[in-house]
Amino acid sequence: METQNLTEGVSMPRIGDKAPVFKAVTTQGEINFPLQYQGSWIILFSHPADFTPVCTSEFMTFASMEDQFVKANCKLVGLSVDGLYSHIAWLRTIKEKIEYRGMKNLEIKFPLIEDITMEVAKKYGMIQPGESSTKAVRAVFVIDPKGIIRTIIYYPLSLGRNFDELYRVIVALQTADAFSVATPADWRPGDDVIVPPAGSCGAAKERMEGKQEMTCYDWFFCTKKIDKEKVLSTILKKQE
Ligand code: BEZ
Repeated sequence: METQNLTEGVSMPRIGDKAPVFKAVTTQGEINFPLQYQGSWIILFSHPADFTPVCTSEFMTFASMEDQFVKANCKLVGLSVDGLYSHIAWLRTIKEKIEYRGMKNLEIKFPLIEDITMEVAKKYGMIQPGESSTKAVRAVFVIDPKGIIRTIIYYPLSLGRNFDELYRVIVALQTADAFSVATPADWRPGDDVIVPPAGSCGAAKERMEGKQEMTCYDWFFCTKKIDKEKVLSTILKKQE
């Protein structure tokens, strides 16, 4: 019986799927997701509960980086299985009382969804009963300007996220789209990017003969340079 309740309405969206739609009450008013964010990248992230230490450290870190995400055309939307008044009280406490690693007086400007019924959390596979049947795990959904899920990352309750990595994901996805390339392990703007594999024997031969402006480690593994400034100006110019 309990299992039935826990699985009712549960779905696990996948990379490449359309982001499930919902309307919700948030600390910034009602939202219509993802429709009202069309044209922007979105990070939809869940956290287990208000007034908890790991979540507080995460919210402060995210809030301190919000301008950086906005400049990369990315909006943040948070969620936890708590009510609106709890959210408001927690965000007020963060602003008025908490000083952490040099961050203080931080206003959380992005919306925090109230999801007491777990309707949204279940739609996004954020309730993982092996970890907790009443709290959302730390899920991250990166959604592109067309409403397609492009990256999903899950962390357990005890592990705070790395927000530099989330920013790197936003920049890397936009770079891949803008330049039709892929990004190798640990890529950061300014590092070489991976060009699509050679599509014919002739192209593979040309690459290995060094006739193109790329570095080939083998015929299927070639990289090229894109200046850091070019990457950043392409991504950040949308906001000018
Ligand atoms: C926290 O945010 O500190 C936390 C929340 C739920 C379980 C464990 C830790």
